[in-house]
Amino acid sequence: MILTEWTTFNIIHHVVLAALVITVGPVVYFGQSNSNYNKPRAGNGLPARLGMFILYATPLLALFLSAKDYLPSASAIQWIVFAAVFVHFSKRTLESLFLHKYSRATSLVNTLVIGFFYSQAAFTVGWLNRNPVPAVDPLFIVGIILFLTGISGNYYYHKLLAGLRKESSAGYFIPKGGLFRYVVCPHYLFEIVGWAGIALLSRHSTTWLNLLAMTSFLVGQGLRALSWYRATFKDFPKDKKAILPFIL
Ligand SMILES: NC(=O)c1ccc[n+]([C@@H]2O[C@H](COP(=O)([O-])OP(=O)(O)OC[C@H]3O[C@@H](n4cnc5c(N)ncnc54)[C@H](OP(=O)(O)O)[C@@H]3O)[C@@H](O)[C@H]2O)c1
Repeated sequence: MILTEWTTFNIIHHVVLAALVITVGPVVYFGQSNSNYNKPRAGNGLPARLGMFILYATPLLALFLSAKDYLPSASAIQWIVFAAVFVHFSKRTLESLFLHKYSRATSLVNTLVIGFFYSQAAFTVGWLNRNPVPAVDPLFIVGIILFLTGISGNYYYHKLLAGLRKESSAGYFIPKGGLFRYVVCPHYLFEIVGWAGIALLSRHSTTWLNLLAMTSFLVGQGLRALSWYRATFKDFPKDKKAILPFIL
């Protein structure tokens, strides 16, 4: 792991991220946060497609701003790290625009808060990429594999979810196919796998903390979704888990 330079800003940044790691999962799970990702969707605020576009396109801008100085002369390693974050947020932007079938509007405040969180994550990876790992090592290769597995799996399950709704429907159904047999949010599992890949490519302590904060958020959200499925569908299989088959 590449430890940050301990400037005042970086210390505060680390402390805030560490606090998020500890608090965001429980806050989401126990319902104190009405996130853009809750089921059912909030229902007022911005049209969901617009909200999610803002939420995912802003980090792309942040990434470019963080990297524009060194990109013209970037090394292959720096390009791979940059490309991973670029592909992740481009994919989510395109999915928000063309794949997901949202049921209702989405909260403006949450769009801004989550957009800010993602933007700092994208900016941080792009900025710290000035000091990349010195050479391609086995962990870097594992990072590429995890990243590609993460985005492919995440896309696959988003496609299955989109297939649940006919054009005009806003209803909820029990998802089927692949890991949906064992968990309600396999797309979250693959989101975590993808960011674990980015963390291995970047290797900076701030990127690891961002990964842990996202994991905390997704676990809270996944457990909440599981409770919602159990309460909503009478015949819901009792042994199904939230994110990790047979375990969590
Ligand atoms: N990095 C992070 O911290 C983080 C956190 C959360 C999400 N994300 C990313 O965002 C992605 C999407 O997350 P999400 O929480 O929005 O996923 P989600 O709640 O599963 O929703 C994805 C889409 O599928 C629809 N949907 C979900 N369950 C459905 C069901 N049972 N029947 C019919 N339609 C259903 C949703 O409709 P509605 O419009 O009704 O919701 C929405 O359009 C994640 O896979 C992940 O990549 C990242």
